[in-house]
Amino acid sequence: MTPVIAIDGPAGSGKGTMARKLASHFGFAYLDTGMLYRTVAYLNLSAEALSKLSVDALLQKAKSIPNDALRTDAVSAITSAISKKNEIREIMTRLQREFATHPGKKYKGAILDGRDIGTVVVPDAVCKLFITADLKVRAERRFKMIQRTNADATFEEVYENLKARDNQDSTRTTSPMKFDESYELIDTSKETVGESFSRIVKIAENAFAKAGMDIRMN
Ligand code: DC
Repeated sequence: MTPVIAIDGPAGSGKGTMARKLASHFGFAYLDTGMLYRTVAYLNLSAEALSKLSVDALLQKAKSIPNDALRTDAVSAITSAISKKNEIREIMTRLQREFATHPGKKYKGAILDGRDIGTVVVPDAVCKLFITADLKVRAERRFKMIQRTNADATFEEVYENLKARDNQDSTRTTSPMKFDESYELIDTSKETVGESFSRIVKIAENAFAKAGMDIRMN
């Protein structure tokens, strides 16, 4: 069984930052599943077109789109809307499982982050983290990031967009974002990146040790 870390949580919670740092710390492959959903939305891929792709082919398509273009508020809103579609989610789940079970020979395991990784995609992942933060803190983080590329953005706009997306992602009928007790809950509101990271590394090490999996660095 491939060692897998499943991370879920709302936008701006710091889950992407934690996932990237964990991946490089443990030598795991990382899949940002939100980026895959954004790619489907940006390219307006139909379920039929998507069903013909492998996860590598979809990643290649994602790479051909500038990152900033994938992360605009407009694309975020469309992504959240298309990700409600059952037929899209089914294919995406299959592609993400393909990644989780075959992360590549040079990696010791896989880390996936998104909204339904620990509930639907890899429910038996050894380590499941639900990373969150207060809406206001998340909006402040997102606003700082957006300001670099969009001087016209306002805090209120960013706050309202996140709130609408939280609502859409957690109330949809198909695979909603949902915390349950199989996850470790990590609230990053009052922590620095370093503090959250050290806490999470310990949680992951304990989870893998308990499962009898050796993921220590060589
Ligand atoms: O993680 P993100 O903010 O880049 O994700 C963008 C949108 O994609 C998010 O609002 C909901 C959707 N998404 C999803 O439904 N399931 C996932 N596993 C990942 C993202």
